[in-house]
Amino acid sequence: MLTISPSDRVFVLAGAGVSAESGIPTFRGVNGLWRNYRIEEVASPHAWNRDPRLIWEFYSMRRRVAAAAKPNPAHFALAKLEQTLGERMFLCTQNVDNLHEQAGSKNVIHMHGELFKSRCDRCNLPPFRDTNIYDPPAELPRCDCGGRIRPHICWFGEVPFDLDRIFHALDECTVFMAVGTSGVVEPAASFVAHVGGRARTIYIGAEEPANASAFTGCHLGKAGEILPRLLSE
Ligand code: APR
Repeated sequence: MLTISPSDRVFVLAGAGVSAESGIPTFRGVNGLWRNYRIEEVASPHAWNRDPRLIWEFYSMRRRVAAAAKPNPAHFALAKLEQTLGERMFLCTQNVDNLHEQAGSKNVIHMHGELFKSRCDRCNLPPFRDTNIYDPPAELPRCDCGGRIRPHICWFGEVPFDLDRIFHALDECTVFMAVGTSGVVEPAASFVAHVGGRARTIYIGAEEPANASAFTGCHLGKAGEILPRLLSE
């Protein structure tokens, strides 16, 4: 069981492994998204300029899969921890699905964006809720300004969202917990090194992440099985 004292501040970094048991494929695991799709074709600004229809086919597929998914015990355990700790918990997810929110988490930082939001690639229209599927022959969405509407996702080569708030919370945390992330994508993969030596650092996941040596504790297995146990009162 993870001991959390009344003065502890907990930073949780969630990855695709947290949603795996909900039926959402990871990126680099067996049958992962990047085994079936080429990043440079579906997840970069260059790809967007080259073939926006292919991009929308890819994210429409991901919207369909995510819309059918339900939160699993890992999501509920994190939502319950937030209830217990309140503002002493900071939940930063790399996932773009909304399963944390469906499980009841209130303060979720989506550093890589949100699948069910879109925005204009030209004007400053704030990201807006968009659950539409844009498969051929559907028209690709346009903004009133004439710009193209794109998925509100942080693509490779783009800067993740809310980094100021994230690093502020990293500087304050006394417990850093990473769950279901392979530790290969920056800047998230370096968060543990950023807090190392000052905070307790715990990894929970199906296999050792690439940055395993940076953690003081490691619990291997399914997040949906380990988290409820580890976070039980
Ligand atoms: N419980 C816990 N961990 C799991 C489970 C599970 N049920 N199933 C798989 N895992 C682990 C895998 O062992 C792997 O280490 O989850 C990790 C998922 O790794 P990735 O697929 O690389 O996903 P992630 O680390 O979240 O990717 C980071 O990369 O592609 C970009 O923007 C995308 O947010 C994503 C980022």
